[in-house]
Amino acid sequence: MKKNLTLFAVIAVMFATLLTGCASAPQFETEAESAQRPILIQGPMPIEAEKFAQRLDKVKVEKSGTFVFYIGKLDKYPVIVAKTGKGMENTAAATAVAIEKYDPIAIINQGTSGGHDPSLNVFDIVLGERTTNIGSLKTGHLEENEGIEPTNWIPMDLMASEGSAGEDPNAEKARYYEGDADLLAAANAVKDKYTKGKVVKGTIGSADVWNNEVDRINWFHENYGTSVEEMEGAAAAQIAKAYDVPFLGIRVLSNNKTNGGQYNPNTAEANQDYVYEVVKQYISKIHEK
Ligand code: 5AD
Repeated sequence: MKKNLTLFAVIAVMFATLLTGCASAPQFETEAESAQRPILIQGPMPIEAEKFAQRLDKVKVEKSGTFVFYIGKLDKYPVIVAKTGKGMENTAAATAVAIEKYDPIAIINQGTSGGHDPSLNVFDIVLGERTTNIGSLKTGHLEENEGIEPTNWIPMDLMASEGSAGEDPNAEKARYYEGDADLLAAANAVKDKYTKGKVVKGTIGSADVWNNEVDRINWFHENYGTSVEEMEGAAAAQIAKAYDVPFLGIRVLSNNKTNGGQYNPNTAEANQDYVYEVVKQYISKIHEK
């Protein structure tokens, strides 16, 4: 009996050695690769994510709820394209899921937007030096039959404190999420590769609202300093900040009511081509480190 046990142990050890021996080379490679934290590129709509995803190598698709993650490589570095769906809630959730699952080194939220600045044209690109939530507002005090006065509404910063935002005077301001300096530097370095319009630094405003009233657009432009509006950036920026992950919003104008710029869906693809260059540049800096 004892002899059988010893024989069994010897065979087991030999088998285990054989297994680890076979697996050691590729396993080492995978470990080294997985030590690299991926860059996460977010796009809300299929036209804003799939073009980029097609350009990745060795793509594997994973889903969480309605969020789709295209996990691949760019210049041998791990990059994940996330199709988040439109709007603040989808984006916040998709950002948190991605951070928990994939531990990204940096996040770029990109896609189309509407101009708030009349000097910007369809196909121009805004690098979000700042991103802010333009749907987080507190109205003035009016009684029944006194009407609605949107120009008296004040920005409300939900991150100002853990107490009531409605009562807290410190919350009566807009919160701006800063674009990460290294991501901005990478975006600036490849500015000239974009030939369909200009690339400028600016402020991205986000809310689950599509504003078509030019006076209201101008009000945001004057009071928040917005260059463009869209429906996702500030949600992603807020969650990235909660986890201390570097973040940048990159938005192409697909329309601009302030100067008659007509909606053009081809801008979505143009933006992805530019963001692709930004990511390549960012990766080249990581490789240099
Ligand atoms: N206002 C709001 N969202 C816009 N988008 C493009 N232009 C605008 C605009 N003028 C983007 C949003 C959302 C989708 C409706 O298009 O980010 O994903």
